[in-house]
Amino acid sequence: NGPPASFSPEVSSRIPPYPKLLRNLQEVRRILSPSRALTLGEKILYSHLDNPEESLLTDTRNGASIRGVANLKLKPDRVAMQDASAQMALLQFMSCGLPSTAVPASIHCDHMIVGERGADIDLPQSIQGNKEVFDFLESAAKKYGIEFWPPGAGIIHQTVLENYSAPGLMMLGTDSHTPNAGGLGAIAIGVGGADAVDALVDAPWELKAPKMLGVRLEGKLSGWASPKDIILNLAGQLTVRGGTGYIIEYFGPGVESLSCTGMATVCNMGAEVGATTSLFPFSSGHIPYLEATHRDAIAMEATAIADSPDRRNLLKADNGAEYDRVITLDLSALEPHINGPFTPDLSTPISSFPDVVKTNSWPETFDAGLIGSCTNSSYQDMTRAENLVKQASAAGLQPKANFYITPGSEQIRATLESSKTLDTFTSAGGTVLANACGPCIGQWNRVDGPAKGTTNAIFSSYNRNFRGRNDGNPSTMNFLASPELVTAFSYAGRTTFNPLTDTLETPSGTAFRFEPPQGQDLPSHGFSEGNPTFLPPPAVPTPSHPINIDPSSDRLAALEPFPAFPDGDLTSLRVLVKVKGQCTTDTISAAGPWLKYKGHLPNIANNTLIGAINAETGETNRAYDLLDPNNKNNDDDDDAASAHGYGIPELAKKWKAQGREWLVVAEHNYGEGSAREHAALQPRWLGCRIVLAKSFARIHETNLKKQGVVPLTFVDEADYEGLKGCDEVSTVGLWDTLRNGGEGEVSLRVQRGDKDWTVKTRHSLSKDQAGFVLAGSALNLLAKKAGK
Ligand code: F3S
Repeated sequence: NGPPASFSPEVSSRIPPYPKLLRNLQEVRRILSPSRALTLGEKILYSHLDNPEESLLTDTRNGASIRGVANLKLKPDRVAMQDASAQMALLQFMSCGLPSTAVPASIHCDHMIVGERGADIDLPQSIQGNKEVFDFLESAAKKYGIEFWPPGAGIIHQTVLENYSAPGLMMLGTDSHTPNAGGLGAIAIGVGGADAVDALVDAPWELKAPKMLGVRLEGKLSGWASPKDIILNLAGQLTVRGGTGYIIEYFGPGVESLSCTGMATVCNMGAEVGATTSLFPFSSGHIPYLEATHRDAIAMEATAIADSPDRRNLLKADNGAEYDRVITLDLSALEPHINGPFTPDLSTPISSFPDVVKTNSWPETFDAGLIGSCTNSSYQDMTRAENLVKQASAAGLQPKANFYITPGSEQIRATLESSKTLDTFTSAGGTVLANACGPCIGQWNRVDGPAKGTTNAIFSSYNRNFRGRNDGNPSTMNFLASPELVTAFSYAGRTTFNPLTDTLETPSGTAFRFEPPQGQDLPSHGFSEGNPTFLPPPAVPTPSHPINIDPSSDRLAALEPFPAFPDGDLTSLRVLVKVKGQCTTDTISAAGPWLKYKGHLPNIANNTLIGAINAETGETNRAYDLLDPNNKNNDDDDDAASAHGYGIPELAKKWKAQGREWLVVAEHNYGEGSAREHAALQPRWLGCRIVLAKSFARIHETNLKKQGVVPLTFVDEADYEGLKGCDEVSTVGLWDTLRNGGEGEVSLRVQRGDKDWTVKTRHSLSKDQAGFVLAGSALNLLAKKAGK
């Protein structure tokens, strides 16, 4: 069953360990009962268990369900890290003192590259501006045997799809859109750097067994409808919290009509509904994509497995597999959608969008359309957009909005260059940005754009549209749509345009209407490799290779271990701030210009919670120190209005200097958005011990636990109302709970002046996670076990 001898070592090393996974699957079936029908997600996930007996039997005794109950201890096949999160992941890995990574890993330099004036100017400047960090990442890659994709090589998820993802694979990625790889049948999960370190050191990685959400696709896409519209529609149905705790698994006849890259787009944006991951079964769209990306060996092996009888087929769900919930979508009837502003689940079909714009008084003009990114830069996406540009150019039209194109990788850029697709875009006035994240992650200085604070609109084919994400302007409304729709809108420059029905006036005064776009799934002459200097060198560990961190650097700083949990309950914590409404990882740790401090915890901590809204005053980034004897109006009111105000990180720093630890109080889905572990590390470094919220986003909740912060949820959400900034909080029974492990309730004793009361809360710490909190962090525990 091994790879044919003719495949290069790189390709052979990228084939999932199918013989081992198939053996594991048989073992899982034996434990669970051979007659039990499994979903695809269960098959792949459980085949990666470190010890199936322990994970599946322990938690399923007495007939209890596995899903949502069992703590799976998993051994992923591979790890991928983007440059911004890789810094902290590697700083953590380094402190474990191992000579090389236990599983293959890759680093992708994409987040720290600006998208502004075009790749030729932006890329060299970004490399120069971030040289210290890129050098650090490259040296660590060389020392530990990690594949290093340099700046310009591409965006992590596109590169992973083109090189590493494979049906049946399980991988972790230090980025929330890692599930993009599920488009090629992998279980790919976005995690923080500390979780990635588990895999890198061969420690089992723990995950609460997800529930299964099945999406049955019927019919076939046609006309303007694209794979992006599948997930834009689903995001509207599910909301940003609807996928939490679930794997979204697609099945049904509609799957066979989708391209591999289209499936990747759908999986990519599963992150927007909070899903653990999303995936598709091995299907006919996968074979030509694997072959076009020089992985015929994987196509052959996967085909052989997929042709085997139901119970031995690792790559599709068993007949009769049951899902916790099923949504059916008819692709033939699917309308293009536009999602936004400010949240990816505000979904509007194109036919109603003009009215919705007017009803909400959203801007009726816009000045930037952006296509590409990790979500939508496939050959299919770009050639469909190109088709529209050619139609418009033939009619003598030019885009009315600035039009930006971000290729997802050097491979796709070079291929679009040789097919003259990029020429079509630039001839129409488009700007081709570097193969990197650029405007998607806030690396966008809109020199010609509206002033900060001015309400305005943009259209993008990206995946995320939180306030301030793209250009740092919280008043910019980013409307998410397919690349085709964004392209057509860019010619109108109006948000009230419907390209399916409306016409544009040509210079000669005639009416022009777009025909539905047409493109090609894959290039007929194969992909071009592009600039060979963008390819990673062979990944061979070189233990003698030095890693230099300049002690005077403001970009990189070695990590100091966090203090362990005290011998007893937490006492005299103070509420730093009570946050109102949505609190994403962007809110807690802003991106954009702050990205450059990702490897320097004390410096990046200066942005902690600067996007948070104080629930008591409605102000952004404002907290009040009622304990300050220098309050100019220090009466007995305990009133924020009369107290001394600070930026939230400034007050946290002041309290840290005073040795005062604190907690944050928040509403639903705290930490939604991304795998950004800085959103956990920074508060921890500043003295945060607890986050008390109505609910948490999965990745962030795990990140908090790994860094030794205890996430608690209200038993009665109404208790949120009673809390205020500076309230004094002590835990009752938390220490005992941590030592005994397991989920449970913890009481908080709250004191304000001469009033005191109890707030009941829940925690979801497993025994292992309780160990992290007691040790101070997961890394402290790993280092202790490694005898460091
Ligand atoms: Fe980069 Fe944006 Fe994707 S930041 S990884 S292009 S979501």
